[in-house]
Amino acid sequence: MNGYTSPNIFGSRPWEVVQVQQAIRDVGGTVYAEIGSTYGGSYWAFGSCLPVGSLLLSVDRPLVDTEGSVAEAVAYMRARHYDPRMVQGDSHAATTLEQAVAVLGGRPIDVLFIDGDHGEAGVQQDVDMYASLVRDGGLVIFHDCGMVDQQPSFPDVLRGPREAFRKFAVGRLSLLIQQWVGYGLVWK
Ligand SMILES: C[S@@+](CC[C@H](N)C(=O)[O-])C[C@H]1O[C@@H](n2cnc3c(N)ncnc32)[C@H](O)[C@@H]1O
Repeated sequence: MNGYTSPNIFGSRPWEVVQVQQAIRDVGGTVYAEIGSTYGGSYWAFGSCLPVGSLLLSVDRPLVDTEGSVAEAVAYMRARHYDPRMVQGDSHAATTLEQAVAVLGGRPIDVLFIDGDHGEAGVQQDVDMYASLVRDGGLVIFHDCGMVDQQPSFPDVLRGPREAFRKFAVGRLSLLIQQWVGYGLVWK
């Protein structure tokens, strides 16, 4: 039996997730990529907004035991006739980028979710390395990039993603969806 029993959409509120899902459906396409996907919940919740058959690329370090895992989400999406792929490694390593590019096989990314390294330099590096793979009009999503005065509990977590979101949004259509730590959407 193919089930999916423990989706964990880490650090999210349902209202935030529903808004992001709607934006992904609106943008459409057949290629989803997520950097930092170990829990599998966002990979499933966002990847499944694209049609059956879509390529769903997960980039994360080799799996550790977590509450809910991307391996479970990958198995579930494969059973639902998606094309899930995992690249395991440091997203900042040239070899990881090479593997991701090989998996894409020349197809541009329609929707990129950046939720890996949250340090200021680290999240910016993910933008610099992977956002160029997103098609014009595609969607780049940041997590944990909300306003600190709305969520004062995690100022250090929010700093890096917020700064990267702010920089990438310059001159582009963007939207902050925040009930908890927030999602930042930028249409490329
Ligand atoms: C906040 S969690 C992501 C939550 C995820 N979107 C989910 O709901 O499953 C951050 C993830 O980024 C990964 N990560 C952090 N730095 C990374 C790096 N340099 N390369 C690859 N993955 C990284 C961690 O392993 C962790 O899985």
